[in-house]
Amino acid sequence: MDKDASETTEIHGDEPDMLGDTGGYADDLMAISRLSAAVSGLSDLDAILRIGLENVVRIMNGIAGGIMLVDEQTKTLSYRVYHGLSRKFAEGMHFDIGEGLSGRVARSGKPILMEDISQETEVARAELITMEGLKAYLCVPLKAKDHVFGVMNVVSKTPRHFTKRDMHLLHSIGDLLGVAIEQAKLQKELREGMDRYQQLSRQMLTAQEEERRKIARELHDDTSQTLSGLAINLQTLIEMAAKAGITNEAFMERLKMTQSLAIQINTEVARLMGDLRPALLDTLGLVPAIRQYAETNLKRAGIDVVFGFDDIGKTMLPDTEVGLFRWAQGAISNIWQHSGAKNVEISLKRDGNSFVLRITDDGRGFDVSLIKSIEEGGRGAGLFSMNERMLLLGGTCTVESRIGHGAIAVARVPIT
Ligand SMILES: Nc1ncnc2c1ncn2[C@@H]1O[C@H](COP(=O)(O)OP(=O)(O)OP(=O)(O)O)[C@@H](O)[C@H]1O
Ligand SMILES: [Mg+2]
Repeated sequence: MDKDASETTEIHGDEPDMLGDTGGYADDLMAISRLSAAVSGLSDLDAILRIGLENVVRIMNGIAGGIMLVDEQTKTLSYRVYHGLSRKFAEGMHFDIGEGLSGRVARSGKPILMEDISQETEVARAELITMEGLKAYLCVPLKAKDHVFGVMNVVSKTPRHFTKRDMHLLHSIGDLLGVAIEQAKLQKELREGMDRYQQLSRQMLTAQEEERRKIARELHDDTSQTLSGLAINLQTLIEMAAKAGITNEAFMERLKMTQSLAIQINTEVARLMGDLRPALLDTLGLVPAIRQYAETNLKRAGIDVVFGFDDIGKTMLPDTEVGLFRWAQGAISNIWQHSGAKNVEISLKRDGNSFVLRITDDGRGFDVSLIKSIEEGGRGAGLFSMNERMLLLGGTCTVESRIGHGAIAVARVPIT
């Protein structure tokens, strides 16, 4: 409100006086605070500009005007919103930064005030200004932290004396709109960044699933088959050796050991295939796949597991099934790796328009608030990707735990 106009403003015509204006400062403050409330938190740039101009038109009775924005790429300035000006005029007023009065304000960041613009010889597009019948003119920058995003022009078509108070008020409104524009632009960049990030995550997860499926298939078709063949061959050798009357105990022992090693490796490969992409997920769906994964991994660690599955039929989209399976895998592996739990409950229910998958353990628990980022060793990556997967499905993931009181992980995804 109390900028030193004499130092920063170009004034053409008589020096505008302050007489008779002092009584209105409270009104100005009120107008600024009302406008500030109206635009604060708005992320839609056009709405900010529209509301800004509407307010100025209301406050400064009888004026015409508009807001021009800088195009950062072309370094030009053109009208985004206007009021009381003809379309021909607004479309014709298109400047390079530095060109014309508006271009000068955009470059210098300093307001310009003119008693009668139609008398000025140095203006650009003079013919349009004359045709539009413009007289008194006031232009203020819309800036934040010394960066000019655009300018606001206020004109009168009848002779009018814009005062210093008008200029101060408009200048303050310009600053306010500058900050709002900056925030809207930052929010837009943030939103675009988030969209790009989500798109990348989605692509990465799809590629990862595809790769896992391929490796699992190769393990199944090649490695596992070959290992089964090897185990059968070794069994045949054992039988042949017995028939041939070979009595060398060390030899027979070594042969049997080799065979059980082949079987053991095959079991490991089967477990690996289950981790990579359980065949059950593609054939019978999510519930049998989770059941099998939990039984293999939890029971092996001596943990009891109870299931409570609603009959969800074939209502789930493949992406949701895969996402929920990977989520369950993360929660279940945390239980056998970290919890020391004895009992686990896994349930999948329909709740209104959502599927809710809940995994509870009675282990040692942990302080969830301490897991804020992914540590160098990878700690935190599991919970992070569980959360991300649910966000990508338009759902939510919550993990609650208290030291000594186990943990509850809940995934909620919309039924689409
Ligand atoms: N059910 C649980 N019970 C006890 N502690 C848990 C449980 N789930 C997670 N934690 C703790 O939270 C930490 C973070 O889990 P997270 O899954 O993000 O990483 P991680 O399991 O350490 O590594 P990764 O999942 O990448 O293999 C774990 O290291 C563990 O300390
Ligand atoms: Mg983990």
